Amino acid sequence: MQAWMFFVLSRNAIIESFHQHHNISAVLDSHLFSYADGALRCESVALATLADRFGTPLYVTSRQSLVGQFRDFEAAFSTLPHFTCYSVKANFNLSVIRTLAAEGCGCDVNSGGELYRALRAGVSPDRIIMAGVGKSEQEIEYGLVTGVLMLKAESVSELKAIDRVAGRLGKVASVAIRINPNVTAETHPYITTGDSKEKFGIDEAELGEVFGLFRTLPHLSLQGLDMHIGSQIFDPEYYVAATQKLLDVLATSRLLGFDIKWFDIGGGFPVTYDPQKPATPIARFAEKLVPMLEGLGVTVIFEPGRFITANSSVLLTRVLYRKRNHAGKEFFIVDAGMTELIRPALYQSHHEVLSVRLHDDSVVADVVGPICESSDFFARQRVIDNAGEGDLLAVLSSGAYASVMGSNYNGRLRPAEVMVDGSEAVLMRRRESYEQLVQNEV
Ligand SMILES: Cc1ncc(COP(=O)(O)O)c(C=O)c1O
Repeated sequence: MQAWMFFVLSRNAIIESFHQHHNISAVLDSHLFSYADGALRCESVALATLADRFGTPLYVTSRQSLVGQFRDFEAAFSTLPHFTCYSVKANFNLSVIRTLAAEGCGCDVNSGGELYRALRAGVSPDRIIMAGVGKSEQEIEYGLVTGVLMLKAESVSELKAIDRVAGRLGKVASVAIRINPNVTAETHPYITTGDSKEKFGIDEAELGEVFGLFRTLPHLSLQGLDMHIGSQIFDPEYYVAATQKLLDVLATSRLLGFDIKWFDIGGGFPVTYDPQKPATPIARFAEKLVPMLEGLGVTVIFEPGRFITANSSVLLTRVLYRKRNHAGKEFFIVDAGMTELIRPALYQSHHEVLSVRLHDDSVVADVVGPICESSDFFARQRVIDNAGEGDLLAVLSSGAYASVMGSNYNGRLRPAEVMVDGSEAVLMRRRESYEQLVQNEV
């Protein structure tokens, strides 16, 4: 539908066609954000009341959505002996980790800081796996001292470092090796990780040396095989190709006498950001992968991040100013920016932007933030409800790689975050203060 058509439709028809045009109901209803009486809400809480109570910009997360996504994931792979380790990097808020851990998942952490967060959230160390292409000796020590389930090593040098640190501590480290399967998954180039051009994992040519290290270095025990081919991967065939390679490595390790317990195929499962490009359902991945992974005599590990959190949160922002330039271009200047959500600038990613209160008409406009960068935008040339100054907009799909990538650039304060559960909303992160901006400066 063309933008101009919106202007000539009645209010109800506009709302209906707006929904159809954006296929909004499909995105919203399944993720517990929906319109009631013309106002957007999260579960049964009106977003406008949250803005009044907690201010903007504000991250709003649906607890039921988090739990629902995790359960959907578990249902898809229920026939496999498996262990799902939520990839904390997607959204590391303690309340998010706690919510998911209570549902039974473990955690995949990528640094000492994420390990600290998972432990602070109450996750038992033997349910945490530790990744990272560049773990420092301090981080390796932290993992070993706390007793994480395993460290996933990504190079010969790292294996030697793990052996050194474990030796110093008088321990034998439980290790998985991350293989680079050299599969180029079709996704944004910044989030493909299983290709030999990238820095991640150990490539096939080095495996002989790696197996040799486990024979000669006394403080290493090979417990798992691991891969992660990237993020937001729509085609299950990439997983099939990479899993086949990891299965070949499993066969070789067994021939060499290693007793592999964990077979980790990583995360990367997709979600819908743009209703015009719906994500492949998780069941399609299970259909392809379960037959390959059955009866292997190992526990399969999955590391979903985005799949669980992306559509569970919105970024709520207030329109500060409307502006129209000499060329007739419309701007909504809002109080959130790339410091809260850098994905459009970094990955050219699409986020739906909805007015919290439905209006009778719409405009074609850019939705931009207050940061002094031209890449500070949420939407460009988008049909948007004709919200006025002071009105609220919601940037959808802001639950993964959003708040965690936030920054203080331009002296911005990190926003507050709330979690909604039914008709209740609780603060899960306070808004930063000016004082906190300078607290570490001496
Ligand atoms: C090793 C590893 N595991 C899991 C993930 C989670 O990926 P996603 O959020 O796409 O599921 C990532 C993300 O980059 C990763 O690097």
